[in-house]
This record gives sequence, structure tokens and C-alpha cells, in this order.
Amino acid sequence: MNTSYSSLLNDLQKSLDNCTSSNELYKIKSTFLGKKGILASQFNEMRNISHEEKKKLGQELNKIKTQIELAIREKEKLLNAQKLESKEIDVELPGMNALVGTRHPISITINEITKILSQFGFSKVIGDEIETEFYNFEALNIPETHPARDMHDTFYINVKNLLRTHTSSVQIHSMEKYNAPIKIMTPGRVYRCDSDPTHSPMFHQIEGLYVDEGVSFTHLKGILEEFINLYFGKKMEIRFRPSYFPFTEPSAEIDIKFNNKWLEVLGCGMVHNNVLMNVNIDTKKYSGFAFGLGIERFAMLKYGIRDLRLFYENDLMFLKQFSGIK
Ligand code: FA5
Ligand code: MG
Repeated sequence: MNTSYSSLLNDLQKSLDNCTSSNELYKIKSTFLGKKGILASQFNEMRNISHEEKKKLGQELNKIKTQIELAIREKEKLLNAQKLESKEIDVELPGMNALVGTRHPISITINEITKILSQFGFSKVIGDEIETEFYNFEALNIPETHPARDMHDTFYINVKNLLRTHTSSVQIHSMEKYNAPIKIMTPGRVYRCDSDPTHSPMFHQIEGLYVDEGVSFTHLKGILEEFINLYFGKKMEIRFRPSYFPFTEPSAEIDIKFNNKWLEVLGCGMVHNNVLMNVNIDTKKYSGFAFGLGIERFAMLKYGIRDLRLFYENDLMFLKQFSGIK
């Protein structure tokens, strides 16, 4: 070993022997290993030597560096052990309380709803939040010039890609992948340029899709009514209101009575033949229904929340009220 290096290790050992606190140890560490420390300057000097020498010296310096690091780490362990022994740290003091988080009310609602829907036989599928116009609109029978595109106030990423405005896009991906029969649910975030007490620019939907032989509007009505009563744990006052979606025919929306006013919670209908044909499903054999429900709206009704923007303010006073609910 280069003699100047062995004296470097001797110097280090002397400093470590005299060191009695972690503060001092920190200083030693930066003297030897810091950016402007002794070792760094040795590495710098290598710039002026030949390639062959550089290789040899570099290896040696790296070895020294490992030895220095090891010696410092050992000293650190020793100091910590001494600290405990000298009761500088009182291990008998009560510890600091670790704050335990709670599940977010939207997650709670998603869990509760998907649990009920899975009892009806819907399997969970997860879709992408970034979509093409094709999956968000065209394949759902909403051509480029259709006025229904305006209802969505879309956030575009570029000419062809957008943040999905509804979970209905997953209907198409799933039917392309599994064809029919199919019975899926798909929860997730959706985005629209929208903001008021019952509208948020990012919100959550759960889409349901059931396509099989002989599926009728009666099935849709029966399943959705039963699902709503199970979710709220009592018979709710609801109404089916005729509506319009390009991808379902006939279409409806469900409103639930809240503070003497009707609040829309979901859209639904029988899957339009054009949509089934777009994914090569035999419309002579199969029919189906679909629905898309607003999770925030269900949570608002269950917990009596008047402004859904509260869900996204991260106010602990608000969020703590949901602790204990799984
Ligand atoms: C749709 O998004 C359709 N894709 C639903 C559908 C699916 C119809 C399958 C037929 C078949 P709509 O735009 O109405 O429909 O939104 C569905 C639900 O999402 C609404 O009933 C409401 O509960 C919720 N919702 C809509 N916009 C917002 C918003 N900005 N903030 C919070 N919730 C919203
Ligand atoms: Mg609507």
C-alpha cells in the first residue's frame, strides 16, 4: 500500500479514537469522505497521471474508501450503544403516538358497491384513464359531430387522446376481449370540465355491463333497484327517468330523493345494437344492459354530504369521521 494512504488510515484511526459524539463523527466523515474531503482530492489528483497508473491507483483508493466507510460505521454503532447505556435516551419513556390513517370515504364506497355487485355476479375489470376518442366516443355510437360530445366537456391530452369522461369506454375494451356472454363491473376515475356542489372535475364511476341471451330491461330494473336498497340498507325512494345516451336504447337515469330534492345517481339502458355490432357480438342471439353510477353521489346520500368537493380537500376533521368503516 502507498505509504501516504497508510498514514491516512492511521490519521483516521486517531480521530476515531478521540471521537466521543455523533457530531464529531459527522465532522470526521465529511473530512475524509465529503465532497471536498481528503479522499475526493486524492481522486482528483488522478487526473494528471497515465492510464496504467490511474487503474492501479484507482483500485487502491477504492479499497481505502471501503475501509474508511467501514471504520466510521463501526464507530457509529459503538457511539449508539454507549448512548443507550448512558441513558441519554430513556427507553422507558412512552413512545410517540403513530398516527393511523383511515380509508377515504370514496374507497369505502367503492368497496361496498363492488361487494354488492359481485354478489350479483359482476366480475371486476380495471380500465385505463387515458383513452382514445375511439373508445370514449366512436365505438359507443358517438360520432365526431354528435351533439352528445358536448355533454362531456372533455379534457384533451392531444388531438386523439383524452382523459376518459366516463367508464363506458371499458365496456368496449371488455367486449372486444371477452365477447359475449359477459358480466363485468369497472370502477375508476373519470374527468370532465365541471365544478359545483354536485359536480367535480375528477370523479368516480362504476360501470356495469351484462350481455347474455334474453337479457331485458326488466333485469336491469330489478337488479338496480335491489342493489340500491342493499347499499343504503333500506327501501329508498327512487325514480327511473327516461333519458338519452347514444350507446343505449332505451335509456334512463335514476334519481334518489335527498332533502326533498331528487339527485341523479346513475345512467343506464339497454346496450345499443350499433355498440354490440362494433365489437362483433351477434345481436340476434345476445342483448344486454349497462349502467354508469356516480360514486360521489352514492357517498353523499349515504353520509348526508351536501357538497362533494369536500371529498377532495383532505380536511382531517372531515376524513376522520370515516375511521372505523372498512
Ligand atoms: C354517463 O356518464 C354514462 N356513461 C352512464 C351510462 C353508462 C349510461 C352505461 C348508460 C349506460 P352521466 O353523464 O349521466 O352518464 O354520468 C353518470 C353519473 O355520474 C351521473 O348520474 C352522476 O351520478 C355522476 N356524475 C356525472 N358528472 C359528475 C361530476 N362532474 N361530478 C360527480 N359526479 C358526476
Ligand atoms: Mg346524467
